[in-house]
Amino acid sequence: MRTRRFGRLGLMVSELSLGTWGLSGDAYGPVYEQELERIVELALELGVTLFETADVYGGGAMEKLLGDTLDPRTTQVVTKLGTVRDEPARKCFDAAYLKDALARSRDRLKRETIDVVLLHNPGVETLREGDAIPFLREEQHAGRIVGWGVSAGSAEVAKAALDQSADVLELAYNLFAAKTLHELTDRIAQTDTAVLARSVLAHGLLVGHWSPNKTFFPHDHRSRRWTPEALKYRISQLQVVRQMVGGEVLTMRAAALRFVLSNQIVSSAVLGVRSQTQLRQLVRELGEREDYLPDEVLVALPEWLRQASVEL
Ligand SMILES: NC(=O)c1ccc[n+]([C@@H]2O[C@H](COP(=O)([O-])OP(=O)(O)OC[C@H]3O[C@@H](n4cnc5c(N)ncnc54)[C@H](OP(=O)(O)O)[C@@H]3O)[C@@H](O)[C@H]2O)c1
Repeated sequence: MRTRRFGRLGLMVSELSLGTWGLSGDAYGPVYEQELERIVELALELGVTLFETADVYGGGAMEKLLGDTLDPRTTQVVTKLGTVRDEPARKCFDAAYLKDALARSRDRLKRETIDVVLLHNPGVETLREGDAIPFLREEQHAGRIVGWGVSAGSAEVAKAALDQSADVLELAYNLFAAKTLHELTDRIAQTDTAVLARSVLAHGLLVGHWSPNKTFFPHDHRSRRWTPEALKYRISQLQVVRQMVGGEVLTMRAAALRFVLSNQIVSSAVLGVRSQTQLRQLVRELGEREDYLPDEVLVALPEWLRQASVEL
């Protein structure tokens, strides 16, 4: 497993990290409990050192899984705070709430110091006003967290996080959602901010396995993400990803992952695997060479994306 610098925090992390939303059962449907531990153990065997979670995933169960399985001396954990699991779930970024939430996360993760705490999908106003960021800076100063940052759901939030000198920015970055990161690249490079790229497979779309009439179970977040027409359209755009397959790029999912990692501004790609098989496939197909995509593909890609009307 190759490693990368994690921005200015002085950490080296695996270029692939394990995300745990999909494992929690909250997002895509249940995963066998025994499989959960095995996936974390396999990730360790394959050289993953960075694990991404949130206090709300599985109502704390994912933090507990990582706390029970990982050695804090050899692994890093990024967790996210700010979602209260009421019915319906709501956001809360008050310092008093975050303080208690952080204490609970440290207990579950069994870590005195958490490597990174991110605000979980805050609005711009939370970053500009309020006491969340002063609180995180104090916790960093006190040594209870190494760094802090923001998991951003929009370009505006990502910009506001950079305005506040966040150490880490997590955002969706994939072949069909590259614009925000590309626009912010200069600022991220200047400030040496760590970047966690998530949703690198566009929630499975870029794998290219779905028929145009694909449907999802109601508890799967993808049943609400696309209308049937929007999904058909997205699937028709996958021709671009198909064009990238060839030579060492064995599959569409490999092309998608290699695209993300070919961008050196990315510190780690957060994988959303839901089985050991999926994890093995992605690691194997990523290969061992540093040239993730052939030069001719990188040169042709912007034009291929334009032809498929993918916004750059
Ligand atoms: N706001 C936030 O902070 C936020 C938001 C989203 C995600 N995240 C984090 O990022 C992680 C990944 O995000 P995501 O779930 O959006 O990601 P993704 O990686 O784009 O998609 C995950 C889906 O891709 C499919 N997949 C994965 N590996 C595969 C393989 N080898 N072959 C075929 N299909 C494969 C699976 O679909 P099937 O289930 O259909 O097999 C899986 O559910 C999450 O687990 C979470 O930790 C954070």
